[in-house]
Amino acid sequence: MKITSFLKTSTNKFVVLHEPVTRLRRFTTSVPEAHSLLACNNNKQYIDCRFPKEVAASRQNVFDRYFTVVPDAVTENEEVQLIDEIEKSLKRLRYQHDHWDDAIHGYRETEVVVWKNQTNGDIIQRLRSLAFKDDSNTVPMQRVHVLDICDDGYVKAHVDSIKFCGNIIAGLSLLSDSIMRLADEAEPHIHVRALLPRRSLYIMKDDVRYKYTHEILPDNDEPFNGKRIVRKRRVSIVFRNEPPVS
Ligand code: OGA
Ligand code: MN
Repeated sequence: MKITSFLKTSTNKFVVLHEPVTRLRRFTTSVPEAHSLLACNNNKQYIDCRFPKEVAASRQNVFDRYFTVVPDAVTENEEVQLIDEIEKSLKRLRYQHDHWDDAIHGYRETEVVVWKNQTNGDIIQRLRSLAFKDDSNTVPMQRVHVLDICDDGYVKAHVDSIKFCGNIIAGLSLLSDSIMRLADEAEPHIHVRALLPRRSLYIMKDDVRYKYTHEILPDNDEPFNGKRIVRKRRVSIVFRNEPPVS
């Protein structure tokens, strides 16, 4: 389904994706996990590495370099203000519980180019600068992608299309904690669970963005660092950059 078909009522503040949403994401099917897994020390509080011993050091290095979780990237007040503006647009849309082969279940989504509330525009610009600060020759997209998954919604393992998105993807998580699972695309038993606390920003780039699938898990009992993480309705604001010109 084309996102344009259910966004006819949106105001000119909200510009829609011109491509079918599914083209943003390239699917892979998941494969059962291997047993001999080793936890690593990489930013232990947020990243739980599940690497076979023989590749642990090199893979940890990849995640140290190319994956970060920034806790408290926005304040509680800023979260309220962002959600307030986002809700005005989202409330017109119905959650999609689509076909088995969709990348996402229980979701609605939109794009924001211009924020009506200037403070929100400033927050978004601050986060954009943070996400792209080390990469001076990238072109961050001005528009952001807003994805709302309901209590039982989830995002399946995929890699974002290299045609529509560059080497950096960053996401602000609002309203709920969640677990993101990242798995080597060729050897999915080599994987990481990342805790994305409410109001945190994750930044994934280069090797992690291209060679690992990412997914947002549905609510589940598996604890993270001994703590049960409850996944409720979650709204994310996703930042991307333009793909390189070839
Ligand atoms: C996506 C995606 C993750 C998130 O929309 O392609 O992976 O944090 N979203 O919402
Ligand atoms: Mn994605």
